[in-house]
Amino acid sequence: MAAETVALASDHGGFELKEVLKKELAAQGYKLLDLGTNSAGSVDYPDFGRALADAVATGKATKGVGICGSGIGISIALNRRPGVRAALVHDGLSARLSRMHNDANVLCLGARTTGIDVAKDCLSAFLSTSFEGGRHARRVEKLG
Ligand code: RB5
Repeated sequence: MAAETVALASDHGGFELKEVLKKELAAQGYKLLDLGTNSAGSVDYPDFGRALADAVATGKATKGVGICGSGIGISIALNRRPGVRAALVHDGLSARLSRMHNDANVLCLGARTTGIDVAKDCLSAFLSTSFEGGRHARRVEKLG
C-alpha cells in the first residue's frame, strides 16, 4: 500500500516542534508535505492554517498536523474550512478519541503547552487510530 501523505504547517511558535515531528514521521515511512513556516521568524498562523486546510480538503494529504504556540489559533483557522476536522489535543487519549469519535483529519498541538514526548505520543495515537463509524458517523455527518 502507498505510504500515507501527512501535511504539516506551523507558525513561528510551532516551528521547532514541527521539525521534530517531521523527522519522526519520515522515520516511520510517511510521505510529508511541509507547508511551512520554515524559520522561527514571526508569521501569521491563519496563513499556515489555510494552506494546511487546503491540502487536506483537496486530498493532497490524507491527514495534517497544525502547530502554533497554543494550538488554538491554528485550530480555529483550520476548522473554518468545510471538511476539515481539526482537533487540538494535549494528551494521547484525546488524540485517540479525536480519531475514534470525531474522525479528525488534522491534529493540532501547542508547542508552548505540550512537551515533545507528549506531542510524539499524540501524533502516534492520532495516526494509528481508526474512526469507529456507527453512531459517530451520523454526528460527524452533521458537522458538514
Ligand atoms: C504567536 O505569538 C501566537 O499567538 C501563536 O503561535 C498562537 O499561540 C496563536 O493562537
